[in-house]
Amino acid sequence: MIMKSVQAVEGKNKMFEELYPVLYAAESPITAGYVRQSIIASVYADSLVLGGLRGKKILDLGCGFGTTTMEISKFCPGSITAIDNSTAMIELMKVVMLDDCNIDEWLQKKGADKILGDLYKGTLDYLNQRRADYRQGIFVRGGGSLNTLTSSVLDISNFILKIGRFDVAIANNMLHWPVKQLIESSSVDTETALNKVISRIEQTLLPGGILIITEPKDFITFDDDRSREIDSEKNTSTNHPVFKRFHATLNRILEDCYGIKRAVPSSTGLFKVSKLRDCFESQGFEYIQMSQRENSDYSDPIIWCQVRAQMWLGEVTLSFEEKNKIIQETVGEVRKTITGKEDPIRTQDFYICLRKK
Ligand SMILES: C[S@@+](CC[C@H](N)C(=O)[O-])C[C@H]1O[C@@H](n2cnc3c(N)ncnc32)[C@H](O)[C@@H]1O
Repeated sequence: MIMKSVQAVEGKNKMFEELYPVLYAAESPITAGYVRQSIIASVYADSLVLGGLRGKKILDLGCGFGTTTMEISKFCPGSITAIDNSTAMIELMKVVMLDDCNIDEWLQKKGADKILGDLYKGTLDYLNQRRADYRQGIFVRGGGSLNTLTSSVLDISNFILKIGRFDVAIANNMLHWPVKQLIESSSVDTETALNKVISRIEQTLLPGGILIITEPKDFITFDDDRSREIDSEKNTSTNHPVFKRFHATLNRILEDCYGIKRAVPSSTGLFKVSKLRDCFESQGFEYIQMSQRENSDYSDPIIWCQVRAQMWLGEVTLSFEEKNKIIQETVGEVRKTITGKEDPIRTQDFYICLRKK
């Protein structure tokens, strides 16, 4: 058997194409992690911009299928521009928030029912509810406008003349993506890549504009405080015993049945805290604060692994159906080891608040 070796990280933009947006949607009603982040980021933005968000012009960077857009719309801004470089993510966002199509039919046409299996009904209900919440909300009823743009944040300067500048930009769980893309495509170091991405974002804001960045602990390293780093590491999802058992089982099946050798995902610690402030200040921002919040997931840890597993297998070149078979087998095996007394999957998020000078 030829042994193939694959990365274990969600490394490529492929993660946001095909059916992956639907997998993100399947995760949302179970863990609500992105929703919690989006609510907190919106509250920060509302408290930091003069006069609050009402009537303001908002930019949702790396909007995905609209989780942050949805939460920020509840503050009744004047307009929201949601950008993402994934056509599939923007398509799902439009289906849920802007189009009138039947979501069930749309999902089934994509084959989502086969991929999601017993998670299908919950995902469909969730998306229908999101649509209803959005349409009944104060933003839509008050005449707010939602615009979508399919573009990389790295190319956003091409659109500034058309879309204008913003009072607030929110980057929820996205900053690490364009930074990693630049590191891969231009072989630059993290600091150079981060400076470049932040300078692009800075161009989108009006003077005094607010930027809120949310990043999970996986992408942050407390290189300036070893004890804080050790303390945080204890609570990362990648150290959870169910996570470890899940990956060990998954990898054993992959290797035994498909000859694929795969590592276990680990935290990347991409951003060094000691470098962050200098980067933001050098790119024209006043550094207001970085705060840390727990975002634990109290759902069944196996379900969490199950919905994430297709994304974890993004680098594996098997079909969705083959991966599903492996995932179901893994779930079955790991479930036998569950005692019901497991801790929640603990994660921590960092909210970086900046004001353009
Ligand atoms: C983890 S998802 C977060 C989505 C959303 N912000 C949320 O909180 O639910 C990251 C998103 O960033 C998008 N993305 C990745 N690289 C990007 C880039 N260079 N420019 C714009 N969006 C990007 C992905 O397509 C994906 O939708």
